[in-house]
Amino acid sequence: MTEAPYLSTTRTAYNTVAADYAEFVKNLMTEKPLDRAMLASFAELVLTDGGQVGDLGCGPGRVTAHLHSLGVNAFGIDLSPEMVAVARRMYPDLQFDEGRLTELDLKDASLAGAVAWYSIIHTPPALLPPVFAEFERVLAPGGHLLLAFQVGDNELRHIVQGYGHTVSLDAYRLSPEYITEQLKAAGFVMTAQLVRQPEAPETVPQAYLLARKPCL
Ligand SMILES: C[S@@+](CC[C@H](N)C(=O)[O-])C[C@H]1O[C@@H](n2cnc3c(N)ncnc32)[C@H](O)[C@@H]1O
Repeated sequence: MTEAPYLSTTRTAYNTVAADYAEFVKNLMTEKPLDRAMLASFAELVLTDGGQVGDLGCGPGRVTAHLHSLGVNAFGIDLSPEMVAVARRMYPDLQFDEGRLTELDLKDASLAGAVAWYSIIHTPPALLPPVFAEFERVLAPGGHLLLAFQVGDNELRHIVQGYGHTVSLDAYRLSPEYITEQLKAAGFVMTAQLVRQPEAPETVPQAYLLARKPCL
């Protein structure tokens, strides 16, 4: 089966920058109390029910590891084999596998929680409904979903330089209203939304949306 072009270009770009991206984000979590607050609330919610949490689009695994430090049984999945290799090297005790947001190799209703931390930003906004349908499929009834992304009007930014490398990567700044609409259409109920102001080198507000698959 041929792959959508945005997947190949995203994979190639993250394969190129994997090691330097990992170095760049290594300590970022310690500088961002509101990001940690959202992850801590998410962790508390999923720990109440117990079960596994997928860090979907995990990159070098920093969020997987952070959730693990909070007691969450988290594993990571990423499109880029280089990112998965870096994550495995950095956190050898945790599980990381290759996979796509649109076709997760996970059973129906198998997760207590899913996080997509800045990983939906490379999917064209019009193609996000199948991604959210896949998140809904793999979450157990009552399961929690946490998304993080840069805020905008769903506009495309074409990136040609990143983390010291020449790349060709599309990224979208997403509208929280549009994402909320699409999550509801996929069957989620919204729990909370945080939009915080940018902190340098960020240039736009950052959004964190927490949603839940309804209980049976
Ligand atoms: C900006 S990085 C964020 C990585 C990590 N979540 C973090 O915050 O450090 C985006 C990551 O999402 C992954 N990604 C993007 N689109 C994906 C897709 N369709 N399926 C799986 N992973 C994807 C990329 O390979 C990359 O590692």
